[in-house]
Amino acid sequence: MKLLDIIGGEELTGTIRISGAKNSSVALIPAAILCDEEVTICNVPEISDTDNLCDILKALDVETKRASESIIINPKKMKNIEIKESFSTKLRASYYFMGALLGKYKKAEMYFPGGCSIGARPIDLHLKGFEALGATVKSEGNKYTVEAEELKGANIYLDIASVGATINIMLAAVRAKGKTIIDNAAKEPEIVNVATFLNNMGAKIRGAGTSTIKIEGVDHLHKCFHEVIPDRIEAGTYIIIGALCGKDLKIDNIIPEHIESLLSKLEEIGVKLEIGSDYVIVSKRDNYKSTNIKTLVYPGFPTDLQQPFTTLLTQCNGKSKVTETIWENRFMHVPYLVDMGADVTVKNQTATIMGPTKLKGREVVATDLRAGAAMVAAALVAKGKTRISNVEHILRGYENIVEKLKNVGAKIESLEI
Ligand code: EPZ
Repeated sequence: MKLLDIIGGEELTGTIRISGAKNSSVALIPAAILCDEEVTICNVPEISDTDNLCDILKALDVETKRASESIIINPKKMKNIEIKESFSTKLRASYYFMGALLGKYKKAEMYFPGGCSIGARPIDLHLKGFEALGATVKSEGNKYTVEAEELKGANIYLDIASVGATINIMLAAVRAKGKTIIDNAAKEPEIVNVATFLNNMGAKIRGAGTSTIKIEGVDHLHKCFHEVIPDRIEAGTYIIIGALCGKDLKIDNIIPEHIESLLSKLEEIGVKLEIGSDYVIVSKRDNYKSTNIKTLVYPGFPTDLQQPFTTLLTQCNGKSKVTETIWENRFMHVPYLVDMGADVTVKNQTATIMGPTKLKGREVVATDLRAGAAMVAAALVAKGKTRISNVEHILRGYENIVEKLKNVGAKIESLEI
């Protein structure tokens, strides 16, 4: 098992360069198989989620070449076979192969996806979208077979503005006959990044980033080159760390517009920010004010930053409230924060935080990806040593996190037992 040992109390200064977005990359890699020719995707982070998706490509005989931050994918010789359960359950985003294989071959066979245990994480909206396009869905236990004689454009209304369902339906529709309209579509920047990739191949997608996406089916998708956008959640995580223990800490290669909700909340509590065109410089200040946040779909406050932000709220004066509206089980970091000395209570979907409290180093667990990030943030300001276990969760979504933090002065070591 992988562990992180962190000695808190250091002032972090210098520059952290943000990597490509995990939640774009994990959709772009499966989307690449829709192409009839070779595609190159650059700025792909080297994290276990992207590695696991490349393993699925290899199992489908898709040629992939990893060259540092780029992946060259050639689906010319691929075969459409069942994706084994051991692959499907490695991560949530494996389900994008359903939409991509259905879109390309009109058939997909795979198992219920994996992912962080932050909720039930159903895929009913994905399957409803596939059925609207003319597919039949058969499920036997954990296995899904989705197939269609023909895929025809349809008008699809999403009951929830689901990121995954929006992208998966887009993947299934780009080569369908006729026009598809996705209403109440999610508007996250990663969706725009995927739509741009598909349009670069010759797809006809309009309206990505708005709640109505229109897709004209096409027959052929050609060679293209594409770039992953910077990871807004990684950026937000390091900016929160800067608010806790930074001194002129520069978070570089970001798109500030993608984290406007976070930046305005940080300014509201009194964090010192210099916001540039593609960077933020952040310094810790004393006497932060308490505030309330409610997680919402984009452009609201992102649920993926709720957990690290909760750590920051333990250092703010007075009572703060965090309401989680997206996932039903996203407070698993709280017991560990309390063990470190924080005053946090959870009732239904709201955490109440009384601050500021002094945090002490403890043995804690990364229960999921972003809870792990909350533990790293807490450990960096706690007195003494914190040991974080189950670090595999963190390494799924934060490229080179140990090196990035060490380079700005953190006392952090990774070890394996
Ligand atoms: C994506 O998950 C992200 N993951 C999540 O980030 C993120 O928290 C989430 O979007 C919300 O922003 C990836 O992009 C790989 P949803 P996704 O479908 O697509 C319900 C991280 O930390 N729902 O937008 O799975 C669902 O239960 C991860 O990087 C259905 O009911 O999220 C949830 O309550 C964690 N039926 C809500 O919608 C469905 O068919 C939003 O889920 C699909 C979703």
